[in-house]
Amino acid sequence: GLGTINIPVYVHVVLPNSNSVTNSQIQAQMNVLNDDFSSTNTNQLPSGATDFINDATNTGIQFTLAGTFRHDDPKSSWGTNDAVKAAYPPITPSTHLNIWVCEIGGGILGYAQFPGGNSATDGVVLLAGSLPGGSSAPYNMGRTATHEVGHYLNLRHIWGDGRCRQDDFVADTPSSDGANYGCPTYPTVNCQTADMTMNYMDYTNDACMYMFTDGQRNRMRALFASGGARASMLN
Ligand code: ARG
Ligand code: ZN
Ligand code: CA
Repeated sequence: GLGTINIPVYVHVVLPNSNSVTNSQIQAQMNVLNDDFSSTNTNQLPSGATDFINDATNTGIQFTLAGTFRHDDPKSSWGTNDAVKAAYPPITPSTHLNIWVCEIGGGILGYAQFPGGNSATDGVVLLAGSLPGGSSAPYNMGRTATHEVGHYLNLRHIWGDGRCRQDDFVADTPSSDGANYGCPTYPTVNCQTADMTMNYMDYTNDACMYMFTDGQRNRMRALFASGGARASMLN
């Protein structure tokens, strides 16, 4: 097998005062990514969620900060059209995950590009307030990064962005017919079975997100196999 996959990360902080996001916040964000992707975070399943008790998995994917680049830029609303990436291009995206930390606007917490896209826009954009200790409670524990890196590694929302029959291409995430928010009690039933509201690829609060599944792990790891869309990252 591939063993533990280690992804080096470049962080581009693009803010009017780029030092307002501290190095310790960036390191805390890396720690959240590593804990979430190895299933060692301290979040818990909602009480009674026995269906999912054995489903949280270690993805075997880890992240190492390879560099932080700070740009003082007065722009206060970068939108979701990759403008921040055009202004501050990704660095060696074939081998590094690039993360831009900026103000997005429109209440957007983050956005990501799926694998196989244009390398000039490859990576993840995060709202500055979504980093651990940021201002975007209840989304300020670093799980926007976990969710967006999930997309970057080919995961869809667990509801497949459609109704019950719309697939997320992962067999062990139960079907769901839309996003869940807040911190749902268990069970939250929309398509006859309990929704996996605590999955990182739902829209629940950071404090209430808990897991990736084996199926999600396998879908992500397949990208790194020979011929996969992110195999170049291992070289
Ligand atoms: N809305 C964003 C997306 O679809 C991110 C959602 C992040 N959720 C969170 N609890 N941090 O990509
Ligand atoms: Zn998403
Ligand atoms: Ca599924």
